Amino acid sequence: MATANASLPPQPSIPPIVQTLRFMRDPFSLIADATREHGDVFSLRLLGLGTWVMVGSPRLLKRVFTAPPDVLAAGVVNRQQLGFMLGGDATFCLDAEAHRQRQRLVFPHLNGRSVDAYVELVRRLSEDAIARWPLGRPFALLSEGHRLSLQVLIELLFGGSEPERRRRLLLLFERFATRGLRSLPIALPWLRIDLGRFSPWGRVLELRRTVRREFAEEIGRRWHQPLSDDGVGDLLSVLAHSRQTDGGRLSEEALLDETINLLFAGHETTGNVLTWCVHALLTHPEVRRRLRAELEEVTGGRPVTASHLPQLPYLEAVIHESLRFRPIAPMAGIRRVERPFALDDYLLPPGTIVAQCFPAMCRRADLFHHPDRFDPEHFLGRKLKPPEWNPFGGGARTCLGRGLAEMELKVIVATLEQRAQLRLAQRRVRPVRSALFFTPNRGMRVVLESRREGAAVQ
Ligand code: HEM
Repeated sequence: MATANASLPPQPSIPPIVQTLRFMRDPFSLIADATREHGDVFSLRLLGLGTWVMVGSPRLLKRVFTAPPDVLAAGVVNRQQLGFMLGGDATFCLDAEAHRQRQRLVFPHLNGRSVDAYVELVRRLSEDAIARWPLGRPFALLSEGHRLSLQVLIELLFGGSEPERRRRLLLLFERFATRGLRSLPIALPWLRIDLGRFSPWGRVLELRRTVRREFAEEIGRRWHQPLSDDGVGDLLSVLAHSRQTDGGRLSEEALLDETINLLFAGHETTGNVLTWCVHALLTHPEVRRRLRAELEEVTGGRPVTASHLPQLPYLEAVIHESLRFRPIAPMAGIRRVERPFALDDYLLPPGTIVAQCFPAMCRRADLFHHPDRFDPEHFLGRKLKPPEWNPFGGGARTCLGRGLAEMELKVIVATLEQRAQLRLAQRRVRPVRSALFFTPNRGMRVVLESRREGAAVQ
């Protein structure tokens, strides 16, 4: 739809094809160049993906994140991008009232005090992972990080199922994630060519059908049995029996979509951030020493518990600094203009995509005194508030799993520091695209030099 006087922020002075290629290969350098050229807000013309307005200023982001969903919608873009793979009836893909209702149902279970109940689970799974890793032989930490965060979610959602069944669900989803959700056609829609089960994309769709069928069985069991009688108290059972504000329960189909969306949104992101965080620690020995000293002082060498977490400000600063120093994606929070949207001197027409340009936010010298240096001091003794600091997006769409993710990262990093002596086994580590995200090349190979047994929890 054409809008009278519509105007877009300037774009980099390179042709759209070059913008697109650079965006796919190395969006971080493209963003740095465009920010130098045009400042806090600029457009990108991405072939096959449309016009994207990238916003890298707290003042403008406040407007973006507080715009109502009939002006800037999120669910509709998420659904377009991933709904066909993950299922469209999930918080991630809904808008307006349907989104609010769903968010109210799920959010409390993944945030606030609720996540304290999962600390021990995360620690135990981290210890099991360390015990499994080979000694003295290089392995890719990234896939271990993905597996660990996926395991956490499978345990949390399906904890009431038999261990063998949980293992099967884990492996199935892992295969779906590796072969489907991390494949290039996820980022480039025009590569999705289904030529049946013998074509690469056809096989991905077949895998998707299998995942949905097997997960649906588990969900159906929980949905049809009364909560008190089935002996299953996992999160999925709780959600299956929760009432929305209109009094109704989620349908089995909605529960299936929500589950698959949570598994995707929750495991990939957390695993990527974890790996970059370990990379930062392995390349900054002084930060690591200080972190270990804090852990020793607070835990006395014992396994980390929920009550330790608020006493570990340096650990929190290390995790926030990792999120800042190595953004896992070029955008954090994407909206589509539904009605003409005024942003400073520009009037964005319907159909335009507006995104938080998170890498530009992370490199702002007015927010971070040495933006190009990894330094947890950036977050010590100060609390940056949204819209200055939004690694989890913003406004009504802020990440549903933020509390869980932050807790997981703290517990896993603390356990690694206490129990595992890792070293990098790769000379050059750089970000490479993995569908929607940027991860360390070669999965970041590390060597476990030694492990330490833990003392009992007190
Ligand atoms: C470090 C890890 C994570 C990062 C960096 C991250 C980041 C984000 C971002 C940037 C958004 C978009 C927000 C927006 O549109 O404004 C988002 C949305 C979302 N995230 Fe996360 N996330 C992480 C972990 C998780 C976990 C563990 C879960 C769940 C188990 C989760 C579930 C979701 C869901 C369901 C949404 C959609 C929310 C909505 O549209 O209302 N995420 N996340």
